[in-house]
Amino acid sequence: MDLKDQIDKKNLPQHIAVIMDGNGRWAQKKGNQRIFGHKNGVKAVRDTVEGAAELGIKFLTLYAFSTENWNRPQQEVNALMSLLITTINSETDTLIKNNVRLLTIGNIDGLPKNVSAKLKGLINKTSKNTGLSLILALNYSARWEIVNAVKEIITENRQNPIDVGSINNEFFERYLNTKDIPDPDLLIRTSGEYRISNFLIWQMAYSELYFTEVLWPDFRRNDLYEAIIDYQKRERRFGKVSEQIKK
Ligand code: FPP
Repeated sequence: MDLKDQIDKKNLPQHIAVIMDGNGRWAQKKGNQRIFGHKNGVKAVRDTVEGAAELGIKFLTLYAFSTENWNRPQQEVNALMSLLITTINSETDTLIKNNVRLLTIGNIDGLPKNVSAKLKGLINKTSKNTGLSLILALNYSARWEIVNAVKEIITENRQNPIDVGSINNEFFERYLNTKDIPDPDLLIRTSGEYRISNFLIWQMAYSELYFTEVLWPDFRRNDLYEAIIDYQKRERRFGKVSEQIKK
């Protein structure tokens, strides 16, 4: 039986988040520059997005550039920014045709002007689409997001002091980049690294974590299916006991 047929369509993760790791190692193993790995990473992005959309996954978040990635060699940072532009240019029609809605999380205004302008253009063009929401995490880190939320809460409520008793999870989440996006059910990290790397720390409180040795440029929809099949074998208890879940 095909892997795809083993997936229970009634128990799909609503939101899958992915730490796409291993591009550099993939390229170096082949005796190439790191950017060759990033370029091939785009093929994995395309296949994963198509696979997720086809299955009916509602939200897919890809960690494409972290706040800490600015510390990489300037040449690699520049190459990643150019790759973003060329990918947006080449994928625009496919995203529109497939009813995909593009969203971003992270400090988009901190990206080079041509990159942020391109992104905003595509976000606009796809805003009415009702299929998969593809969320690119760019210039993103979870600690930045949380500190930013605190700043916004203080700025917005300067004139009227907040009733401390009214602060709860729901209140705080309204100030996160992911407001209106459900928490990830499943996190996938490639390349055999077992870390969260400052990604969606608040939102992943109850996510199921899945790690694979596959390097990101080799990741294809079958690897996505394997992760989903593994996810479907898990019992999500959210702090309760097994008997309460089975009721
Ligand atoms: C991690 O691999 C990958 C990145 C930091 C960049 C991810 C970018 C892409 C997949 C291409 C562009 C994406 C889009 C959405 C158009 P690494 O460089 O850390 O690999 P390493 O751990 O082997 O060094």
